[in-house]
Amino acid sequence: MKLLVIGSGGREHAMAWKLAQSPKVQKVFVAPGNGGTATENGLENLSLSEFSQLIDFCKKEQIYLTVVGPEAPLAAGIVDAFQEAGLKIFGPLRAAAQLEASKDFAKQFMARHGLPTARYATFTDAREAKAYIDKQGAPIVIKADGLAAGKGVVVASTVAEAKAAIDLMLVQNRLGDAGARVVVEEFLEGEEASFIVMADGAHALPLATSQDHKRLQDGDRGPNTGGMGAYSPAPVVTPELHARVMREIIQPAIDGMAKDGTPYTGFLYAGLMIDKAGNPKTLEFNCRLGDPETQPIMLRLKSDLLALVEHALAGTLDRASAEWDRRPALGLVLAAAGYPDEPRKGDEITVLPKATEDCRVFHAGTRFDGKRVVTNGGRVLCVAALGDSLKMARTRAYETAGAIRFDGMQLRKDIGHRALKKD
Ligand code: AMP
Ligand code: GLY
Repeated sequence: MKLLVIGSGGREHAMAWKLAQSPKVQKVFVAPGNGGTATENGLENLSLSEFSQLIDFCKKEQIYLTVVGPEAPLAAGIVDAFQEAGLKIFGPLRAAAQLEASKDFAKQFMARHGLPTARYATFTDAREAKAYIDKQGAPIVIKADGLAAGKGVVVASTVAEAKAAIDLMLVQNRLGDAGARVVVEEFLEGEEASFIVMADGAHALPLATSQDHKRLQDGDRGPNTGGMGAYSPAPVVTPELHARVMREIIQPAIDGMAKDGTPYTGFLYAGLMIDKAGNPKTLEFNCRLGDPETQPIMLRLKSDLLALVEHALAGTLDRASAEWDRRPALGLVLAAAGYPDEPRKGDEITVLPKATEDCRVFHAGTRFDGKRVVTNGGRVLCVAALGDSLKMARTRAYETAGAIRFDGMQLRKDIGHRALKKD
């Protein structure tokens, strides 16, 4: 059978690669894909983006199933459109994707269903927002309500910084509609973890835990990015905490969505903050897999991803189980010059190591022009490696990355530092 994956990032390269491993799958199309999905065995890029064109293609090519990678098409209703056309697709409907597409929706949802999260208030008026900030003091967090491609959250350490963020969003309208409404949120201290599940409307199947590194520079300094590296599992999520997150956050979220008349089917990502005492709170929901978390997670997944997606679409995830490589995996992002503000495109990638059983280079912002692979976005590659220990996975990833060359390459040297400190 033939499948389609929507998206062009490292997450989509990893998903498509994993789906192509299924014995039932002949070919996985990736729309629009990247330089890695263009050259990987069993994958083929498709330069279509309009939903109607994709639907026509799926009908003509008899695509068995489509899996959606990023949030934007989900929030724009790709699942609704495919289902109306009678096509099989995995992801939340537009109404359910609001869990990510509107921070205010997500906060109201969490309050209504008793999920632990930071205190907050929502504003459209800058004066009222500033008065609230004066009352709360700093540090405080300002979030654009809508999708802002990772630029919508400002963790302000001073009241002045918080007010500047309000001006940027509510007065200067710099994020457009996405920032026309803001959530002002209590600053939470602790350690973050990514908790991702597959959901079928009623049940959730947890995937392996992971931890991302959001800041550009070593020691978690510098600007926020989409993520500079991730590893799985995240030891901060102990078995006890795992059970608690399922009980207090994930299952209530799935039940709440069903109760509200918008049952949730798809990947669901809870960004958690775990305080010193080990209590988890939800920072955000994403209606998709994480990037770069997916790359190490897919490397560890031993089960057939297609079979799991089929369980999710049939509503039988309670009868499914996912088998994981017991070895940890680590994914290291190689970013372009100028990332995250103004990534430079068009630098040639001169050396690309071949994949081995325990190390693969997933592409993100790359393009294959028929002869050469060149940079084409902020996060260019993600080197993902397995190891008998996290340390060994890290050594393998860094050794492989050491052979890769493109001008202006940026990478963090300390991916995995939190877990390695716990060893
Ligand atoms: P979000 O897109 O909501 O996950 O926010 C991006 C990043 O901002 C998170 O990964 C955290 O590092 C940080 N952040 C978001 N909300 C809070 C909060 N309430 N307290 C502290 N840090 C936060
Ligand atoms: N790596 C963070 C995210 O996918 O949202």
